[in-house]
Parts: sequence; structure tokens; C-alpha cells
Amino acid sequence: MKNGLFQIGLVGCGGMGSGHAIALHYGTGTAVYFATDVTKKMYNSEVTTDISKIMALAGVYDIDPERCEWAKGHGMFVYENYDAMLADPDVDAILIATPNNFHKEQAIKAMRAGKHVLCEKPVMITSQDLLDVMAVSKETGMVFYPRQNREWDEDYLVMKKIYDEKLIGEPFHVECRIMGSRGIPGDWRGIKECGGGMMLDWGVHIIDRLLKMIPEKVTEVFAKYTYITNKECEDGLRMHLTFESGMTAVLEVGTCHFISLPLWTMYGNHGSAVINKWRFGFEPMDGKIVRLTSWEDKDTTPILAGEGLTKTMAPRMANSIEEKPLPEIDYDRNELYKNFAMTCMGKEEQIVTQEHALRVLRLMEACSKSNAEGVVVKFEQ
Ligand SMILES: NC(=O)c1ccc[n+]([C@@H]2O[C@H](COP(=O)([O-])OP(=O)(O)OC[C@H]3O[C@@H](n4cnc5c(N)ncnc54)[C@H](O)[C@@H]3O)[C@@H](O)[C@H]2O)c1
Repeated sequence: MKNGLFQIGLVGCGGMGSGHAIALHYGTGTAVYFATDVTKKMYNSEVTTDISKIMALAGVYDIDPERCEWAKGHGMFVYENYDAMLADPDVDAILIATPNNFHKEQAIKAMRAGKHVLCEKPVMITSQDLLDVMAVSKETGMVFYPRQNREWDEDYLVMKKIYDEKLIGEPFHVECRIMGSRGIPGDWRGIKECGGGMMLDWGVHIIDRLLKMIPEKVTEVFAKYTYITNKECEDGLRMHLTFESGMTAVLEVGTCHFISLPLWTMYGNHGSAVINKWRFGFEPMDGKIVRLTSWEDKDTTPILAGEGLTKTMAPRMANSIEEKPLPEIDYDRNELYKNFAMTCMGKEEQIVTQEHALRVLRLMEACSKSNAEGVVVKFEQ
């Protein structure tokens, strides 16, 4: 703790790392810093922690000299190498934002040097690697914290509220889709040995959130990966999950989708909810809840649909359903940074636990097995 602030050394200052560097150097938080003038007020809501009062950027290290120059340009301190950062007694913790294949070695080295670790997702490439890291965390007493920041995405928190508060009755099915059309980025994400592929990139986020939303055992998984734009690593995937209660979910990541399906859909026995896409600015979130007001509308005359008649699929009478906007929420966008620092200082319980990250990795491995063997894989039974 220098100047009364928890000091972070950042390793890896590329796409994500530069976000962390700026967020910590200027004391705003990643999402808050990158908010536009229009969205700044929203991101700076009263409940968002001012992290500049808790933590600071001690300095950065990147193997690429250009990234080091970029950091210097912002007035950040740049270490000669990773060992120099670890040797700095002022550094309390290391934030790892390097490609996935470096996480294990860098995390273990940091903890053995007496530093806590905040590690970008996917924390490790395999569950065995995470078990090894967890053993070092236990042995050294250093915190190892998985950075699963998308547990704080507004769209997820809105859907979680609908689920928790049964705003569409008892939910029985949920779907989440992340869809783009750019293929795998032309970096290490397309290389297997670097921890590439869309499961480790986006699958990890959407599985993480689903397991937090639905506090039940997952009993079965079936997954299919795609290799449309990249043959070495999957460029997309679809997973079908079944939970202990019979609740089901479909999670999908696509990078060759020129028309996107909704980000979220959820179905309950008294309604349905949809979020079409991420929110931009102060526009209301693009989505809605449609709720049943009466099951009385049972009998109806058939309608013509295509070349056939249907009673079952005839639209409902307008007075038997109601349309509602999605619930508004406000939350601390810097909670993960704050919770990491507070956990290291022994003042808070860790929100994203190692055990949770392990469960996520094991489920990802079950998906890969299902994809490879073309079978439904039993999971927590
Ligand atoms: N949580 C999120 O929302 C989120 C978003 C993007 C990326 N990530 C994660 O962040 C990590 C980095 O992804 P990225 O998109 O920033 O990649 P990137 O390629 O843009 O940046 C990685 C940086 O690490 C540097 N680097 C590589 N090896 C290094 C080493 N041994 N020591 C020091 N520096 C090294 C590279 O020079 C580069 O600047 C990945 O684990 C990724 O999954 C997380």
C-alpha cells in the first residue's frame, strides 16, 4: 500500500490491458473510462465506487516495446521486465492481461513472489491448470481472483432480476447469444496453443453468468462447435444445457452471423422476456416483457398460417396479455475491482470465487467432449 492505495502491477497492455491501464491510472474503471459523453453520467451513477480512493496503477509491463511506449505516453510507469515488477515491494497485486497461455506461469510466479493476482478470463486453459494455481494460492495465502467482469453487464443483471423475481412466472428456458460477423480476430485467438477459440473467449463469459443465474446442478450438456472461418480453433459454438429441475438453456457464440438473434430470451409459465442487443447510451434497453393476464383465452377460431389452419398458434386476444418494459437497474460498475482489492485486504468476501471458475472450466470441458464425441454428456449427476 503506497500512498494509502492498493497498488496494481499490470502485465500485458494490449486490447484489454490498455483498458485496465487507463481505468486504474485515471482512476475511473474500465467501462466508466470508455463511456462516451452521452453515457458518462449513466456509468458514473452514485452507486459506482470511486476506485481512485482505493487503488492505483503502480506500473505496467508488456513484451512489446510499442505497448510500453504507449503506456509511457500516458504517464504510466513501465517496468523493465516482469521480474522487476514482481520485485517492487510497492506492488500489492498483479493484474494479468496477457494471452491465455501465459496466465498460469505468470500467476504462479506472482503468488510465489508474494503478490495477489487478478487474472483475466479464461483464468486458465484447463481445469487441471486451475487446480494447480489454486494449490499455490492456498500454499502462499495469496488471493487468486478470476476476472469475470461480465457478471456486471447490465443485460445479464436485468435478466437475472427477471429470473430471481419471477417477473414472467416460473422460468423454464433461457437463451443467450453473442453474435458477430468478423470471424475470429487475426491474433492469438485463432491459435490453439495460445488458448484460442471462441469457447475460451466468449463461451467462458456466458457459461459463467448462466451458472450464477441458475443456482442448480447442470445434469446434461450437448454442444456443437463451428469451424467456418478458422479450421484450427472453433469460431462459434452452440450448447444445450439441462438443469436438475428440468430448466433448460441454449448458449450460442457466433462469428459468422450477418443477422443476429436476440442477446437474451427467457420463457416462464406466465410470460416471456427478450433483450435484443446491448444498450447504447441512454436509449431504453431494446427489449420487453410480455406477461399473461388471463389463461381464459383458451378457445379460438383457427387462423390461416401458410398453407394450413391453426388454432394452437393463433395470436392471443390483446386483453389476455400485457407488455411491460424491462426492469430498470442501477449497480456498482467498479464492484469487481473494489471487491478484488478489499478481498486482498481481508475486508470483503471474494465475489467471483476460484471454485466457481473451476466449475465453469469443467463445464466447458464437458462441452468440448460432447462436441468431439457427438454425444450428450452427463455432468453434475
Ligand atoms: N474480460 C474481458 O472482457 C476481456 C476482454 C478482452 C480480452 N480479455 C482477456 O485479456 C487477455 C488479453 O487479451 P487481449 O485482447 O488484450 O489480447 P492482446 O493481444 O490485445 O494483448 C495482449 C498483450 O499481452 C502482451 N504479451 C504477450 N505475451 C506477454 C508476456 N509473456 N509478457 C508480457 N506481455 C505479453 C502482448 O504484447 C499484448 O500487448 C486474454 O486473456 C483475454 O481473454 C478479457
